[in-house]
Amino acid sequence: MKRIAIFGSGRGSNAKNIIEYFKFHKNISIKLMVTNKSGAGIITVGKENKIPTLIIEDHKQDLNDKILKTLTENLIDFVVLAGFLLKIPSTLINKFPNCIINIHPALLPKYGGKGMYGINVHKAVLKNNETVSGITIHFVNEDYDKGEIIFQAKCSVLPNDSPKLLSKKIQKLEHQFYPIIIEKLITNEH
Ligand code: GAR
Repeated sequence: MKRIAIFGSGRGSNAKNIIEYFKFHKNISIKLMVTNKSGAGIITVGKENKIPTLIIEDHKQDLNDKILKTLTENLIDFVVLAGFLLKIPSTLINKFPNCIINIHPALLPKYGGKGMYGINVHKAVLKNNETVSGITIHFVNEDYDKGEIIFQAKCSVLPNDSPKLLSKKIQKLEHQFYPIIIEKLITNEH
């Protein structure tokens, strides 16, 4: 059984969707949630599914020590970031080589980097009159949104799209593809 931890700071819709997808899976199980926001939706999602949730403070030492300890205690094999807004420390990246992935709500390398998260990304895409946007699933390395790209899917951006509407289209793609890509990665390579 491969044991996954999901990290999130937001609403938790991806976390919820991933948990549902793997609920009765033979080889993959969600065993831990990690968040840096005491009010994050992901905490409710964890409670509803009886998955332990680690809530961390926003400073580096806490991130390093507490997360590493809890991941080890829970025998975690693979880390899935779903709207987690803190930078992952290099100690964690080194402990989980090619086993930490992230989803980004745009077609990287465009619209990535610090400050580019959630609705900010969609606002920037619309401001530049892009006609296409999408999702990127990538490995996590020391630079924000710069790890090797694993998968992308596209959607059209229409002239009248609002940031909210675009975010709905993107989340639909995220929910459609993130669990499948996680499953493929873990089943084929781990
Ligand atoms: C997702 O759209 C994800 O792509 C984005 O945060 C949202 C979290 O939604 N992540 C980033 O912007 C990372 N740079 P959720 O909490 O409903 O899963």
